[in-house]
Amino acid sequence: METVILDGHNQENIVLCADVIRQGGLVAFPTETVYGLGADALSETAVAGIFAAKNRQEDNPLIVHVALKRDVMPLVAEIPAVFETLAEKYWPGPLTLIMKKSGIIPDNVTAGLDTVAIRMPEHPTALALILACGGPIAAPSANPSGTPSPTNALHVKADLDGRIQYILDGGSCRVGLESTVLDISGTVPRILRPGGVTYDELKTVLGVVDFERSPDNEAPRSPGMKYRHYAPKAPLTAVLGPPSETAEYIMSRMSGRTAALMFDDYAFDNPFVVTLGASRDHAAQASCLFGALRLLDSMDISEIYVQTPDEDGLGQAVANRIKKAAGNNIVVLGNR
Ligand code: TXA
Ligand code: MG
Repeated sequence: METVILDGHNQENIVLCADVIRQGGLVAFPTETVYGLGADALSETAVAGIFAAKNRQEDNPLIVHVALKRDVMPLVAEIPAVFETLAEKYWPGPLTLIMKKSGIIPDNVTAGLDTVAIRMPEHPTALALILACGGPIAAPSANPSGTPSPTNALHVKADLDGRIQYILDGGSCRVGLESTVLDISGTVPRILRPGGVTYDELKTVLGVVDFERSPDNEAPRSPGMKYRHYAPKAPLTAVLGPPSETAEYIMSRMSGRTAALMFDDYAFDNPFVVTLGASRDHAAQASCLFGALRLLDSMDISEIYVQTPDEDGLGQAVANRIKKAAGNNIVVLGNR
């Protein structure tokens, strides 16, 4: 099967892809965060196709995407009190909400959990596709498990060529990192994965919000967070601390085929240095990160050092992805 890239702003293409999904197939589509690999969320067999195409662990549940707020009702057992406030403020947008699931969600979507993750994406192509399907779409990021997520149609093509029929092209993803996963099924809302909507924003709206730190010896509540993730081929070291110190440290390590991912304002002239956006511009870092890791993958390098941003605002999500890609290779400098 040859994978074809279709213009995602064309309604005929959207209808064609909706038909593929309704018949149990898979389609990659753009969202404002990353590209998703979509299937009919209410069909166990269709959803099984996602796990196969991505080589995804069966214990890692998927996010269900809706286009209208009222489409959440049949998917959940109860609507938590904070749902309305959050959906009103952040949907469509990069916020996934975990709620108690209803009986119509197949077990493989939620990996057997009694909760389901739901979000309303903001990209017009995603919304049009869900509407044309007439039902919710289950979608993880459209990459093989463990590798950097795709933020444009060519990334998806490189990753899944031959495994799916169509990719809807909606340009580059605005945010560039996955949605924030917020569990609202318990008494205190809890962030399971930092993302496009920040801790500070949620704290302002909700008053109180927990942040899951998932120690290694404990089963994380967001199963996906326990795997090494977003990882390029060469071993990667996350370097944390004040940018002047991390830059100096990285510079001292550069020799042979060692590569670095650095803030624009600290990068130096070297063919193996790739830039990540300015040190204070977390939004630029978020939108650059996965593309930069892919660029590094295309270079013949032996290891990668990454200047990791401080954790305020969107910096928390950027740092989270870099640390996941690093596995245990983390260096902390300065008094933090
Ligand atoms: O921005 C995004 O969220 C993208 C786009 C395509 O929407 N999707 C995405 O999906 O990042 P994925 O499968 O790569 O990540 C889903 C995350 C995983 O960490 C998974 O463990 C968690 O959500 N998750 C899903 N259902 C859950 C549940 N019921 N309880 C706890 N965590 C859940
Ligand atoms: Mg993913």
